[in-house]
Amino acid sequence: MVPGTIPQPAFYIFKCQQSAPPGMPKPSCVKADDQESQELFQYLAQKLMQKGIMPAVTPIQTGCLNRCQLGPVMLVEPGHTMYVGLTKEKMDRIIDEHIIGGNVVEEYVIPAEMWGEPLSPASMAR
Ligand code: FES
Repeated sequence: MVPGTIPQPAFYIFKCQQSAPPGMPKPSCVKADDQESQELFQYLAQKLMQKGIMPAVTPIQTGCLNRCQLGPVMLVEPGHTMYVGLTKEKMDRIIDEHIIGGNVVEEYVIPAEMWGEPLSPASMAR
């Protein structure tokens, strides 16, 4: 670390916190009838603190990441890794194996057909 500089985090974790209003047919990552889905962001933040790695990892609450039907979802950057169908148990493994261990937990990653190649802003710009 360079003296006098503020180090950057190694990871940002964007956790979708979008909830659909009760009665709305659209799926969402935080569900009114699913307590665990409501607790996941808090759980993530607490785990990062308990592990002592919070300065190296910044959890961020975000709105819809457009993969609602696979929720709860979160995106890990860098790496553009989208995890889907999250539970507390899955988060534990992602923190231990990916964030600390450096190995993506492939079985929780979004299926390839739902996460194609990135769109190119340069080719789309008017
Ligand atoms: S509500 Fe979470 S991805 Fe859309």
